[in-house]
Amino acid sequence: MSKGKNFKRAYGRLSALMICLGILLVAFLNFRQLTHNIINIGYTEIWSRQQAQNFELTKENTAPNINPNFKLAAPDLWIWDTWPLTKRDGSLAVVNGYKVIFALTAPRNVEWNKRHDVAVISYFYSEDGKDWTYKGPAYNIEDALGSRQWAGSAMLDENGKVQFFYTATGRKGEAVRTFEQRLVKTTFNISADRNGVYISNWSKHNVILEPDGVYYETMQQAKGPIIYSFRDPYFFCDPVTGREYLLFEGNKGGDNQKLKPENIGDELFRKTHIVPPGAENFNGNIGIAVAENKDLTKFKLLQPLLEAAGVNQQLERPQVVFKENQYYLFTISHRFTFAPGLNGPDGLYGFVGDFLRSKYKPLNGNGLVITNPDNDPYQTYSWYVVSGDSILSFINEYHVNGELRYGGTFAPTLRINLKGDESEITEELAEGVIIP
Ligand code: FRU
Repeated sequence: MSKGKNFKRAYGRLSALMICLGILLVAFLNFRQLTHNIINIGYTEIWSRQQAQNFELTKENTAPNINPNFKLAAPDLWIWDTWPLTKRDGSLAVVNGYKVIFALTAPRNVEWNKRHDVAVISYFYSEDGKDWTYKGPAYNIEDALGSRQWAGSAMLDENGKVQFFYTATGRKGEAVRTFEQRLVKTTFNISADRNGVYISNWSKHNVILEPDGVYYETMQQAKGPIIYSFRDPYFFCDPVTGREYLLFEGNKGGDNQKLKPENIGDELFRKTHIVPPGAENFNGNIGIAVAENKDLTKFKLLQPLLEAAGVNQQLERPQVVFKENQYYLFTISHRFTFAPGLNGPDGLYGFVGDFLRSKYKPLNGNGLVITNPDNDPYQTYSWYVVSGDSILSFINEYHVNGELRYGGTFAPTLRINLKGDESEITEELAEGVIIP
């Protein structure tokens, strides 16, 4: 037989072997996903009182003091919760050379703490991801649902439409502001030329999700001193399964809140740990709903990914970031929303797991990823992880020579390094910088 024929035969065998190995690998991955899905139907991770202990400020988790000479991104407005326009896979979208971010805004002449009562979502654009131009509200305010609009997320789909999710809080025209929260969607077109970015052609704003009272608390069921939550929809397409979801901030549904032993901790911990009365009314969770159609107009509520019953009332602005085959689940929370007997700081908290619905381990032991320095514990808030490594937030309440001031603008961006179940702040950049 000629050399050429031998070579061809060997090459043919090698190709066949490679194809077989490929098929086996795909089958294995699908099998792993399938068995995982079967085993984990009905699994909600618990962030327990035992885990939410021993919060310490370290160089890995503590942001530097802000320099009070920051510039205001929109001098007439308070700016707080901020999020970028992303693509379906969560990476930053670029529209004809421009990056786009959305943020809650209110006129700067409104009292600082009253800004939540008049919030609208505005948009900003930038060519370099550093200097942002304020453009205006992201929709016609008369068309939006709610007496004000709270945080959400925005995904640019392959047809050039922005799929825009937000929280409608209260009802249009209500005489007294209520805290009812519903998840709403609209879509719009986005375009850009050398004069900037434009949005147009909004679809009707529709309610897509309301709490069911079983997995997720309704306004009527809410108890305790802090408002209930059903807000902050975050779009996520699972890169492994291709399924599409909304994550959101919820509270545990039901009229009779009781803690399970696991909400407290293991047997040994429970022997000595005293749960103060009223802790059961602090029942935050990270909610999830799965998309039932391609248009992303129908979602079905699933049981939460994680619950913090007896631990914290507010797991705000949840996000999931897929990095090195791991799912990093993030949420922001306040010192005042921790249940009695616990004392975590205002911060970004995170968990890591092998699947979207899976066992989640708190990062760094107790979950704390980013917090403020000891001498200004409320200087920034509402951390939002962009592309898995840079973090936006806003300047909140800070001090200059002992005098309290309000920021209401983009805070310096922080970069973090996520490694397995640990994280560290690696760098501070200028205010509001986003890196593609
Ligand atoms: C976080 C937050 C969000 C909410 C918004 C209201 O800062 O509480 O959960 O959407 O602020 O202003």
